[in-house]
Amino acid sequence: MNFRTFVGCLVAGVLAAGGAMAQQAQPIVIKFSHVVAPNTPKGKAAEMFKKLAEERTGGKVKVEVYPNSQLYKDKEEMEALQLGAVQMLAPSLAKFGPLGVKEFEVFDLPYIFPSKDVLRSVTEGPVGQDLLKKLEKKGIRGLAYWDNGFKILSANKPIKAPEDLKGLKLRIQSSKVLDAQMRALGALPQSMAFSEVYQALQTGVVDGTENPPSNMFTQKMHEVQKHATLTNHGYLGYAVIVNKKFWDGLPADIRAVLEGAMNESTRFANAIAQTENDDSLAAMKASGKTDFYAPSDAEVLAWRKALLPVHKEMEGRVGKETIEAVYKEAAKLGFKN
Ligand code: LMR
Repeated sequence: MNFRTFVGCLVAGVLAAGGAMAQQAQPIVIKFSHVVAPNTPKGKAAEMFKKLAEERTGGKVKVEVYPNSQLYKDKEEMEALQLGAVQMLAPSLAKFGPLGVKEFEVFDLPYIFPSKDVLRSVTEGPVGQDLLKKLEKKGIRGLAYWDNGFKILSANKPIKAPEDLKGLKLRIQSSKVLDAQMRALGALPQSMAFSEVYQALQTGVVDGTENPPSNMFTQKMHEVQKHATLTNHGYLGYAVIVNKKFWDGLPADIRAVLEGAMNESTRFANAIAQTENDDSLAAMKASGKTDFYAPSDAEVLAWRKALLPVHKEMEGRVGKETIEAVYKEAAKLGFKN
């Protein structure tokens, strides 16, 4: 080898080593897109996952959290996940219908969960896990369920009884069960992306909506809704999902660490959700912009009577078996449907 060749080899070797090092130093990036504010149960749990994932992989994984529909709105984020443009989402369980996994809409059935324990035994038990498995054929892996809370109804007129919603245009998420629920109340449901709700309420495109207090408060909906009723008629929670190809392609040791970080973030999300909602409700009450009405026991019965027929009506959509599987979990904990 002459001197020039030797120097050439040396340079090539150094460059190759540098390249390999640079490659090694490149972190695995997880883009985590969501539609709510950072100071919500989901927003805080996403940040917790970022922190744990980055710390525990020693920086080998970088999690970029994009809140408030910064990257994508509801429908687009599902498509982006499937295409691999983002790697992780936590859409509400009411948003899996358009993907073709209609069984998830069981979570939207009004008054289906008589308690948080029943909900937990569904999400952590075989019913919830079987639902997550249904996502695999869509190129999606379901990792966890995160709570938000129970929904309240809001509008610019007092809502004491189901009749008060007759003829009102109410924004819903993209769920056929929610559509049927609003129709059962005589209202006109309008499916709309979450990022558009504040403006639609402000301009009167819709008259009212439903959401847990934390979403209502952090999107400032209380500034454009004069009345709300604490019906707690339905649940809103999330499935944390990843692009399956991306997840399965991760080095096994990294994936195991991320699974641990996800389990811990899930415990965190579910531990803070109730307090976050309580605090949001208290803050909205203190602002004096919205009147909050707590229905009496007799009034709750009237809401139940108006809404429970939706279970039967939606059997064809959600699947009788899935609905009955939830009833069974409730029965195991001593509740009768
Ligand atoms: C909504 O669209 O109302 C909610 O699903 C938003 C969310 O992610 O909590």
